[in-house]
Amino acid sequence: MFGFGKDDTNALTMNQPHPDSLLDTGVQGVISKPLDRVDGPKKVTGTATYAAEYAIENIAHGVLVSATQGHAKIKSIDADAVKAIPGVIDVITDYDTFIRNSQQGGETSAPTQGVRTIDYFGEIIAIVVAESFEVARDAAKRLKVDYEPLDDAAFDYEANKDKAEPAPDGLIKGHYDQGDFDKAFENAPVKIDVTYTTPSQNSAAMEPHASIAVWDDGALTLYGAYQMPTSDAQQLAKALGVAQSKVRIISRYIGGGFGSKLGIAPESVAAAIAAKQLGRPVKAVMLRQQVFDATVRRSNTEQRMRLGAEAGGRIVALGHESITSNLPDEDFFEPVGIGTHFLYGGENRRINHDVVRLNWTLSGSMRAPGEAVGMVGMECAMDELAEAIGMDPIALRKVNDPQQDPELKVPYSSRNLTRSLEEGAKHFGWDQRQAPGQRREGDWLIGMGVAAACRSNQLQQSAAKVELHPDGSATVSSAMTDIGTGSYTIMAQIAAEILGLPIEKVTMSLGDTNDPPAAGSGGSWGAASAGSAVYLAAERVREKLAKAMGVKAEDLTLKDGMAIGDNRSVPLAELVGKDGLSAIGEIKPGQQEKQFNQASYGAHFAEVGVNVVTGEVRVRRMLGVFAAGRVLNAKTARSQCLGGMTFGIGTALTEELIHDPRTGKLVNHDLAEYHVPVNADVPQLEVHFLDERDIHANPIHAKGIGELGISGAAPAVVNAIYNATGVRVREMPVTLDKLLDHLPAL
Ligand code: MOS
Repeated sequence: MFGFGKDDTNALTMNQPHPDSLLDTGVQGVISKPLDRVDGPKKVTGTATYAAEYAIENIAHGVLVSATQGHAKIKSIDADAVKAIPGVIDVITDYDTFIRNSQQGGETSAPTQGVRTIDYFGEIIAIVVAESFEVARDAAKRLKVDYEPLDDAAFDYEANKDKAEPAPDGLIKGHYDQGDFDKAFENAPVKIDVTYTTPSQNSAAMEPHASIAVWDDGALTLYGAYQMPTSDAQQLAKALGVAQSKVRIISRYIGGGFGSKLGIAPESVAAAIAAKQLGRPVKAVMLRQQVFDATVRRSNTEQRMRLGAEAGGRIVALGHESITSNLPDEDFFEPVGIGTHFLYGGENRRINHDVVRLNWTLSGSMRAPGEAVGMVGMECAMDELAEAIGMDPIALRKVNDPQQDPELKVPYSSRNLTRSLEEGAKHFGWDQRQAPGQRREGDWLIGMGVAAACRSNQLQQSAAKVELHPDGSATVSSAMTDIGTGSYTIMAQIAAEILGLPIEKVTMSLGDTNDPPAAGSGGSWGAASAGSAVYLAAERVREKLAKAMGVKAEDLTLKDGMAIGDNRSVPLAELVGKDGLSAIGEIKPGQQEKQFNQASYGAHFAEVGVNVVTGEVRVRRMLGVFAAGRVLNAKTARSQCLGGMTFGIGTALTEELIHDPRTGKLVNHDLAEYHVPVNADVPQLEVHFLDERDIHANPIHAKGIGELGISGAAPAVVNAIYNATGVRVREMPVTLDKLLDHLPAL
């Protein structure tokens, strides 16, 4: 495995602002352009190889076995009976470190547990390996497991929520109090006290979790579908008890992750252990139901919102108290109030997170952990407060748009919430909005809603290598991933812009831990972190070109494969020499993330129709305005926002995991019963970007965008439903049964 800090590294720690960017002075003109994905042709022709698709000789097929009890001890597993089935090679049940999918990416000790105790229904307890997938699946179904139920199970949220305890401090504090919230709320001239709930959700990535494990001389190569190969390889090495240098993960193409592939999932460990024991490669692909049951869910949330304001709308008391759920002994909690900490002002604040311990599928990160569901509470409460005051919801948000972080008292690195709201209002036609329940077209009540978007910005240590070859073409390599987001394309664009190359001259290699380590795709940090590493590597290569040319780097212009300076124009191929030129770039977070609050912002607008006869809600149109620093590729960035807004429609209207209160079993653990929005549910979506640069974030001046599009999307829809009907539904998703009894008579 490649390490950080190799020779010839252009390293940058973000301790200072970085006002000058080569992306602004480059003349190639590829950065920010809506270029097609460079990996697109491979994907549409089926030649992009996903984890389960590698053709490996002598491969054996593994099928995972799921527990059929929610909290129990395993007394025995009758492996011999299924081993007798022709084609079955082995049943592996006796490994003692089994893996819960860890959202912390191996940074905590949480993921290991004894396989002999089942903590949730569907937990993976064995792998059956056979000569064919069909035989393995058949044998896995026939495997008899004898359980002894444990009597301290907690399967029902409502019955156990009184036992919720303060969340341990983590990414954010479990409990946070500032000023005198109780007094300020008590004395506030206008106040609301409402509770919103959101159910458990599943990432529902299209590609199921899949691994192929190949051992060679004590070293493992795992073809997997992972978002963060560098830390996943560390986590896997730890689980297997081998040195980190002995594990290589290859994740070239990933069919979506949305958080569920941040940490390793059980199939990787099971495949690795089986392959080692059997002395041949083993493939394990999780069944769709197992992806739901045994990877990770977004926790259900219950959010008590208390907002107290002056008559003019200024918030004086802001309370956001949540209860979420997770397995016993897990550190992760859904950081419901993460955005609430900095979105609006208000001196007196209480942002608390409590966790109830349940024997339900592990909860962890799912796209925009915190904001995605936390902003349902916050932004719907803002809508309610606006109405209580008799104020326009946009005006209320503008009054509470703070000049500095209300808790840390540091400036924002860049913040365009108000501008996003104003631009959005103009494009959307917000001035056409009427009072609740007033606009009707036949059987349809029509309404408009708005919500802010915000998502904290993070930079993570990442490296990349840029090589300029003797023929004048370039290769960029990094253990960064492209989970469908566009990393291949934007990283190629950054290198092409700085080196003055047409995009076709840049070849990308991502998703291999043999390449320079990167933080991978998570928390919307991927493009800015790995992209900055590419920037730094290309900057160093550019310096080398200047030296070879005999000019100062600042006097060099690179365009279309030519180096121009000192009244000369020389093809790059002539400057690079027979060995080529290369450099590694490495970015690290520094003081800038402490001296400034860094986040991206935006505004969501939705128009819905609610049928007065059936209660059916249809989103008619939706518009988002986003400000996330430099947009690296206008097409892939827009796609990220479209996906986020679609996710928001799901949160508002359709997505809900149902846990059987008797066993914790997920009742609807497939894509037929867990309803993500489909084409017919998603109308024309409009996306606008504000021109913004963030010099405190990184040298490419971009902030995260992958999760911004979901943060605030759902409450815009929910607020539109209220505006259409005059009915407040505070329990997500807003299905027709929750509206029907409250709609006006025909
Ligand atoms: Mo994201 S939930 O950090 O993949």
